[in-house]
Amino acid sequence: MDLRDAYFVDGCRTWFGKSRPDGQFWSTRADDMVTKVLYELQKRNPTVPWGEVDDCIWGATTQSGDQGTTMGRAVVFTAGLPDTVPGFSVDRMCAGGMTCQAFGASFIKSGSADMIIAGGVEHMAHHPMGAGADPNPRIVTEKMVAPKYFNMGNTAEKLHDWMPEHGEQPVTKEEADEYSYHVLERYFKALDAGYYDKHCVDMTVFSPNGWIVANKDEQAKRGTTLESIKNLRRFPFKAEGHVTPANASGLNDGACVSLLMSGQKCKELGIKPKMKFVGASFIGVDPTVMGWGPVPSTEKVLKRFGMKFEDLDIIELNEAFAVQAVGFMKHFGMKFPEDPRLNPYGGTIAMGHPLASSGVRLSMQLAQDFEMNPKAKYGLTTMCVGLGMGGSIIWENVVGKF
Ligand SMILES: CC(C)(COP(=O)(O)OP(=O)(O)OC[C@H]1O[C@@H](n2cnc3c(N)ncnc32)[C@H](O)[C@@H]1OP(=O)(O)O)[C@@H](O)C(=O)NCCC(=O)NCCS
Repeated sequence: MDLRDAYFVDGCRTWFGKSRPDGQFWSTRADDMVTKVLYELQKRNPTVPWGEVDDCIWGATTQSGDQGTTMGRAVVFTAGLPDTVPGFSVDRMCAGGMTCQAFGASFIKSGSADMIIAGGVEHMAHHPMGAGADPNPRIVTEKMVAPKYFNMGNTAEKLHDWMPEHGEQPVTKEEADEYSYHVLERYFKALDAGYYDKHCVDMTVFSPNGWIVANKDEQAKRGTTLESIKNLRRFPFKAEGHVTPANASGLNDGACVSLLMSGQKCKELGIKPKMKFVGASFIGVDPTVMGWGPVPSTEKVLKRFGMKFEDLDIIELNEAFAVQAVGFMKHFGMKFPEDPRLNPYGGTIAMGHPLASSGVRLSMQLAQDFEMNPKAKYGLTTMCVGLGMGGSIIWENVVGKF
């Protein structure tokens, strides 16, 4: 074990709710969801000296109300962490939590920290996308970005047209639907086999119908057939467009947390980490096709760390929209509609996408994938980001190594 490397020790999440009045988290505060997963993280790792955590970093896209008050620090109190733990919050929209992990791991690698809590939360019912935002009018008047591309659905529609115009293979609506069908199938197979019980936390919450237990990813629709997906009304991002609720990520509420630790600290505490942080890259792309981001961010991180796409055994990709996942597969020559390396136990299209939390979900799934696939050596977590960005982190499987 390299003492100054950064390792992923553990992670857990709430189940994801649907962001609407009958959704399981409608009456629950975002920071209470964070508190719940922080409690669970502490419970799952009783030997960790929590007062020595060097920073508690939280991603949230909207940093006001129950996601405000410098949440990374405020949740230290609500989650019963010792006062000595500092905290701050990060906004890189969907990649908020992923950015917390990249920063946290880099703090560790530089010797500035030994233990970092990195998480992400989004309560999209309390904070609808773009609510309260005041984009600089110059962005519109000077035609930097057409206003319709502040809506992510429109960027997905454009990506369908953009790919063949830019030398990439086209992705049809039929392919996006077929991909979505397989993701749902993989998700339910894994769910029924108990895969998600290993990192999802039940939470008792108050709802308009009284106390309930939030114990499922509400969006995932069991029994979905390819036919029902194909026949679903096309969403009016574009007349006769490609995007429907079945081939898009949804509007969701959820919180995800992870614990990162230096090799030194793992050794000292006798903790067996699951993954080693190899490195991260973020990159900007044309904001009107933001879903393309994971392709260049993956190429960038592979190049930076001297690796090839073929070195990656498992890829957890956040499917904001099926079109970008299929575009990614085609660009890198993966097998369509299913490649065993990509989202092997289901993905965002099935369980949902509470924006800033999702990058951390990808990492806890990858860690579990590594446990289940000991031959896998390297893995990737990757996602697209609004305003045109991509983020990718390479992780190395260290399960059973120490
Ligand atoms: C696509 C989108 C607009 C759909 O929103 P919505 O209308 O609230 O979606 P719902 O989940 O309520 O689904 C609408 C209908 O489709 C149905 N449906 C959803 N998935 C289905 C599936 N797999 N099979 C069959 N029917 C399905 C729902 O049951 C619902 O039917 P109903 O109206 O009869 O109840 C919304 O999910 C969206 O904007 N997603 C993208 C989010 C985003 O941009 N995130 C950031 C990415 S960078």
